[in-house]
Amino acid sequence: LTVVLLFGGRSSEHSISCATAGGVLAAIDRERYNVIPVGITRDGAFILEDDDPAKFVLHPDAPADDLPVVVDNGTRVRWPESTGSRELTVVENGVSRSLGSVDLVFPILHGPFGEDGTIQGMLELVGLPFVGSGVLASALGMDKHFTKTVFAQAGLPIAPWHTVTAEAWATDTAPAYAALDRLGLPAFVKPARAGSSVGVSRVSSAEQLADAMAVALREDSKVLIESGLVGRELEVAVLQGRPGEPSRASVAGEVIVTGRDFYDFDAKYLGAGGVELVCPAPLGAAELAEMQRLALAAFDAIAGAGLARVDFFLTKEGWVINEINTMPGFTAISMFPTCWLQSGYTYPELIDELIDVALS
Ligand code: DAL
Ligand code: MG
Repeated sequence: LTVVLLFGGRSSEHSISCATAGGVLAAIDRERYNVIPVGITRDGAFILEDDDPAKFVLHPDAPADDLPVVVDNGTRVRWPESTGSRELTVVENGVSRSLGSVDLVFPILHGPFGEDGTIQGMLELVGLPFVGSGVLASALGMDKHFTKTVFAQAGLPIAPWHTVTAEAWATDTAPAYAALDRLGLPAFVKPARAGSSVGVSRVSSAEQLADAMAVALREDSKVLIESGLVGRELEVAVLQGRPGEPSRASVAGEVIVTGRDFYDFDAKYLGAGGVELVCPAPLGAAELAEMQRLALAAFDAIAGAGLARVDFFLTKEGWVINEINTMPGFTAISMFPTCWLQSGYTYPELIDELIDVALS
């Protein structure tokens, strides 16, 4: 099978996607798959990348300005021009060369222009099968305002929130301050369409709102103010079933934040410390069963496909769904594979499963 691994991309999670690609390139079964690594530069050029996992390792002690990136090497990958063809070509020094016929695309992309339905729409247009959610689920999962709207409609537990557009904020800040007052402190201010906690601030006084809004508005023209939840932070991984089989949820992983404000970018990827990941998380059988039921309902609510990671808080009042990620971080040590490792899959087996489900 010829699989295109698509990574990098235009979003602020470019390097996280590269790190995920490094993990998959290192682990994918080369006897079973012919892998074509296609990188998307920060400017959006599709290039033929090196098939070198070591190039894309995210070192936990790396400085923030030295993360793996897709560098434009001058090549250009051309997608099939019609649904009648699955032939991928690369143009190099003005010369076009066939890369062969593609069976499947694995878009390991995080954030806007990758996890939000745009790439998925392009692949559907050209008729290439791909791993993961389609246009609608990707778009819903990427946008925290619409994720919550759909979850609320499906009767799923979510935290109260208020959405502020850049235009509304520029016109009148009073409604946002009133919302903060109503939602209570601490609150979280988040770009609606971002991931890996990029642009997210914890606000513990009204004076901090303006700075937090400015940080979030750098990422997106739409921002959410959310109540900060008190409780445990837990995540669960979902895999779509084979045809006729139900989707499955893994054991839970827990994020234990001790020495920082919250589970931010530096703690997630830069080894900043103050955070511990525990999997499987200690939960009673009934608690875990309820979490898994909610995760599968969340996956259904957005019409998810392939995979997802659903993030929760366990509060005194019970489970609250924080968000769903339709292309969760997927390095060998990320929470999604770790949860499945504890639920019976090795990392290469998980890659096989995602590909098999996408082709079934
Ligand atoms: N957005 C990051 C990659 C995640 O959800 O894991
Ligand atoms: Mg996310």
